[in-house]
Amino acid sequence: MRRHPIIQMVVIGAIASAIGIVLALWINWFPADAAKQDQPIDTLYDVLMIVSIPIFVLVMTVILYSVWAFRMRPGQENEDGPPVHGNTRLEVFWTAIPAILLVSLCSYAYAVLNDIETKHDNELVVKVQAVQFAWTFSYPQADGRAVVSSQLYLPKDQPVRFDIQSEDVLHDFWVPAFRVKIDAVPGMTTRLRVTPTKLGSYPVVCAELCGLGHSVMRSTAHVLTPAAFNRWLASKQAPAPAAGGGGGEARQLSQAQLVALGRATFTGDGGCGACHTLADAGTSGTTGPDLDRVLTGQSEDELRTDIVDPNARIASGYAANIMPPNFGQTLSGQQLDGLVAYLATVSK
Ligand code: CUA
Repeated sequence: MRRHPIIQMVVIGAIASAIGIVLALWINWFPADAAKQDQPIDTLYDVLMIVSIPIFVLVMTVILYSVWAFRMRPGQENEDGPPVHGNTRLEVFWTAIPAILLVSLCSYAYAVLNDIETKHDNELVVKVQAVQFAWTFSYPQADGRAVVSSQLYLPKDQPVRFDIQSEDVLHDFWVPAFRVKIDAVPGMTTRLRVTPTKLGSYPVVCAELCGLGHSVMRSTAHVLTPAAFNRWLASKQAPAPAAGGGGGEARQLSQAQLVALGRATFTGDGGCGACHTLADAGTSGTTGPDLDRVLTGQSEDELRTDIVDPNARIASGYAANIMPPNFGQTLSGQQLDGLVAYLATVSK
């Protein structure tokens, strides 16, 4: 007993769609859920999949079924199928349904975008500066100065607005755990809004091919408790040695403490290990010179210049403008002193 081909196609299509939707919802597609913006975006993604899968499966079922069921058989080589005439009702139907679907999904997506970009009065403004191949985050302060960092620090449950700029080419600021991303475009400021909701550290990624160092243009977003965030901000605000004693950063460090700070900076704030191999620090980057080989015999002054003015002299076999030129700004004076002390120590 043979059923009508259309009924067979519908049955096969319905079963395949159901399997596809179950699989799509069962797989966990998303990284950590660390911002208020995540839920609406994830739900939108799920809805898009639920709507798209049956359409894809239906088209594939009709094609594959037809290839199999209506294939040419021996003796039919010179035959032609029956002529096909227009069917107005069918055409209206297959134009109207996709149009309704598209308009509904676009309206829904617009509503989600509007929702996640809602302005808040108490926004924390963070300036994001992209340069080949590093991120710089600045926190404008009441006194007109700014706290500058190469890693992103955010207080939990605080609405944040990122003002994103590029100094050279197109980059793209992306924190997968916050879901949102936007291009950094030379000559203009783009904006993103996020409210982090979960303590932790999450990758910051450049999502636009921007040159040789694109793959290492990464940083880390740290979501802290508001108290810890304020402590971090205060520690970065502390000016260079102030008369009458000052914050933690101003105090004198012993040589051993300086070397320890340098090692921590190498693997942490400075992010040096992403590009440089250094056995002592346990890093194995290959974008820049292997420090286990090139450091020997360098003076502290030469090491310092190599960090703050990387284009001053380029190791043979490496191109200029790969190492970010702004470590002199993004690292504190003490971190820089530490790095130089550390590198001088390990190179001996
Ligand atoms: Cu910046 Cu890719």
